Amino acid sequence: MKAQFIAFEGGDASGKTTQARRVADNLNAVFTREPGGTTIGESLRAILLDPNEKVALRAEALLMAASRAQLVADVISPALSEGRHVVTDRFIASSLTYQGYASGLAVDDVLSLSLFATESLRPDLTLLIDIPVEESIKRRGLNPDRFEQEDISFHQKVRNGYLDLAAVENKKWAVIDGTGNPQEVASLVDKAINKRLDLP
Ligand code: TYD
Repeated sequence: MKAQFIAFEGGDASGKTTQARRVADNLNAVFTREPGGTTIGESLRAILLDPNEKVALRAEALLMAASRAQLVADVISPALSEGRHVVTDRFIASSLTYQGYASGLAVDDVLSLSLFATESLRPDLTLLIDIPVEESIKRRGLNPDRFEQEDISFHQKVRNGYLDLAAVENKKWAVIDGTGNPQEVASLVDKAINKRLDLP
């Protein structure tokens, strides 16, 4: 069986990290997150999420892509080549929604940049954990990072962007209702994975 590459996407506080880690454990997959996941990537993450930094939008898109390139080269491609499944918490679609749909860069440009970074590697399946923006704001913790400090209309654009991408690429995406408790969301996630991927 071919090693599968699964991405979890969603707005802030959607609960996708909990689900991504659980699925990675169940599949004995390599778990990664973005931005980050490598030494270089974690340094870039610190710059990118710092509420005190004013990162220019194009620099932000390039740094996200740089973190992604390092993660693919160091972690994701080697694991897939060895036949291991990979589960990532965020991937290309996060750049399309946050830097594209919400911040205003051309989505096609952001996609080209990401495909350059990944040597055209894309997930076999993307699971969108979808919750209304009001719910994500309710769930938010103290000390919001730079993206969490954006206003409600930004987060609405992120959500709409994700739903748009999922509708266009509906064979490679599954939209999961993230409003239930973690067990309920887990069962929807597992159903979607079993239906879409040929896993034991
Ligand atoms: P993180 O703490 O990982 O948030 P979450 O738990 O919601 O995943 O922070 C990552 C932030 O970076 C998140 O707000 C989305 C943003 N981001 C982008 O803007 N573009 C990207 O390409 C990626 C990977 C993340």
